[in-house]
Parts: sequence; C-alpha cells; structure tokens
Amino acid sequence: MAEFRNIGVLTSGGDAPGMNATVRAVTRAALAQGVQVYGIYEGYQGLMDDLPADPVTHFPGSLIKLDAYAVTNIINHGATILKSARAVDFKTEEGMQKAIATCKRHNIDGIIAIGGDGTFRGATDLTNRGIPCIGLPGTIDNDITATDESIGFDTAMNTCVSLIDKLRDTCESHARCNVVEVMGRNAGYVALETGIAVGASGIMVCECPYSEEEIFENIINAKKQGKRSFVVVIAEGVKFAKEDAGIKNYCEDFAKRLEAATGVETKFCRPAHILRGGDPTLRDRLLASRMGYEAVRLLLEGKSKLVVCEQKGDIVSVDINYALILDRMYKNKLKPGDLDAFTAEQQAEMRAFCEVKKKEFDEMYNVSKVIGAYPEA
Ligand code: F6P
Repeated sequence: MAEFRNIGVLTSGGDAPGMNATVRAVTRAALAQGVQVYGIYEGYQGLMDDLPADPVTHFPGSLIKLDAYAVTNIINHGATILKSARAVDFKTEEGMQKAIATCKRHNIDGIIAIGGDGTFRGATDLTNRGIPCIGLPGTIDNDITATDESIGFDTAMNTCVSLIDKLRDTCESHARCNVVEVMGRNAGYVALETGIAVGASGIMVCECPYSEEEIFENIINAKKQGKRSFVVVIAEGVKFAKEDAGIKNYCEDFAKRLEAATGVETKFCRPAHILRGGDPTLRDRLLASRMGYEAVRLLLEGKSKLVVCEQKGDIVSVDINYALILDRMYKNKLKPGDLDAFTAEQQAEMRAFCEVKKKEFDEMYNVSKVIGAYPEA
C-alpha cells in the first residue's frame, strides 16, 4: 500500500445533494485507515488559493482539517459544507502549479474530487503532475455516461416530482396546463424520468425526436375525454439547442403555442436551481456513502485517475480518460484523435456500452409516450 499522510477532498462545479454525504464517507473511510483528511474549501479554487482562516468574515481557510466529528450530522443535509466553485484559472498551467504547491506545503498525497466532467478533467491534470486523484460523480444531471447514476440525481428528481405534483394540483382545479423546463444541462435524464413519474402528457429531450403537434393532439384528445390538468416537461438542453439555432425563449413560446392550439390555459414554470438544493434522498446518501468509501480504498491502494461509478447496482471504477471519451462518444461529440489511445477491443466495448445506454433511454422515452398518451376515443 502506498504511504499516505494526508488526503484532500473537494467538491467542484455545480453542487448536488449528497455531496456532504460523500465528504463524510471519504473522511471516515480515510480516518479508519489512519490517514488524515483536509477538506478543500471552494473546490480547485481553494486548492490554488490556500488562504488562511479569517475570524472576522468567518472564512474557515482554504484547507480545513476534517476529523470524524467535523463531518457529523451532514449526511442528511443538502449543499456542500466545503462549498463549490467553477475555477476557471485551474485550467491554466499557472493555476495547476499553484494547486500542486499547496499539496506539497500541506503534505497532501492524494485528492478525491467530487463533481462532473470538468472536475474529472482537473483530477486528470493533477494526477499527470504527480498528485494522484480519484473522481466521484456528483451532479444532478446524471450526464456521466460511465455511471448509471450520479450523486444528487435522485434527490433532484424527487424535488422536481414534488414541485410538479403541486403544479398538478392547481392545474386540476383550474383546468390548466403547466409547461415545466427542468435542469440537466444537455442530458434529458431529469426531464424524462420525472416526466414519467408525474404522468406528463408530453416530454421533450434532446436525445429523442419529439413533435409539438403530437403533444398538442394528445392534450386535445385527453381534454375531449374529460381530462382537466396537463403537464409537459422540457429538458433545458432542448432550450440550449434552440438557442444555438438562434431561437430564444423556446419553452415560454411553446407554452403559448400549446395554449393557442389546444384551448387549454397554459402556464410556464422553470424551477431552475431549486433542483440543486434540499436534503439528499436515501438513494443518494447510500450511493454517496458507497462511492466515497470505494474512492478512499482505491486511492490508498495506490490507484489514481479513476472515476468511481455505479453499473447495474455494483460500485466499479473506470479510467477517467476512458470515462470522458465514452461520454463524448455517447453524446456524439468525439473529436479527431479521441479514440487513438484505445485498442480496437476497447473501442468496440465503448460502442457497445453506448448502444445499450441509448437503447435503455429510448425504451424509457417510448414508455413515457405510450403511457402519457390519450389515444382518440
Ligand atoms: O450541472 C448542473 C447544472 O445545475 C445544470 O443542470 C445547469 O445547466 C447548470 O448546472 C447551471 O449552472 P450554474 O449553477 O453555473 O448556473
């Protein structure tokens, strides 16, 4: 086993419920092995800045020594006690060198980084410069292809379902429709799964073809058969794609078109960052705990540049570069040369993995359409 004096743990990028549970698991698992833990405040930014504590502003310092008690009673809370930031300077060599100097100053021999793909790129760069890192997927978007679920996704979906259920109540009273745009960046998982769970009459995601007309027809047919309340869920990625094509306010304007086409009064709602807050669900606490434990085990075993994933219920680890390229493959964003580092066998394995994942998504979308539909009576 490699010798570790201290390890660092940080949360980076968009926060996600369950990040605290992950910090707790990492801290307790490391302490159990006699390794001390530094919580790094504000992600990679804190690692670069290494600022001292300031009792006047209550700033705790960029590096906080975490003992077992420091992470007590945080498993049940949203947000991240370590705070988060999107550290732009960390992408520069200068920023990277500052981070490495901080690690050297504090005898930090390895880092566990919780976040999304940007966080993993940072972890790779640090590992390449001699600080071994392990990544943990913490994002509500569930857009890390290599893992079936990311930490925060389940909570975000439950929050979304509970919000839309409330909208449903008032829609039912007033015979209205609500068009709801939900976060997820370019991935449609939050929209699709919550859309199914709230019984949406229409779901729009970038991954599958959708038709406004079909949604209007569905609502018209359902209204004829007595249905009073309607919900349509749109992934924010659809809006981003429209913006790229020069179309602004797509979701708001869709709500107006829906009202005109169906005669159903329609409201628009964007819960936005509300989905990022709140106490984590059991599923997220469990995932965070299992993944945090595994990350420490791998790091202390001398492994690095891995991202811990959940695949078919098992906690596994995947090479970070493999995971990042798999992501690009799944999202049809491969760049020339991306696959050069992989053998023909690995490439075939990646393609097969993406095909299965896409098939599962398509099947789920198909289910949503069939059970959300009111065929003509
Ligand atoms: O990646 C998480 C996420 O909440 C996305 O769903 C969303 O598009 C983005 O972050 C919002 O970013 P910010 O918090 O920087 O506004």
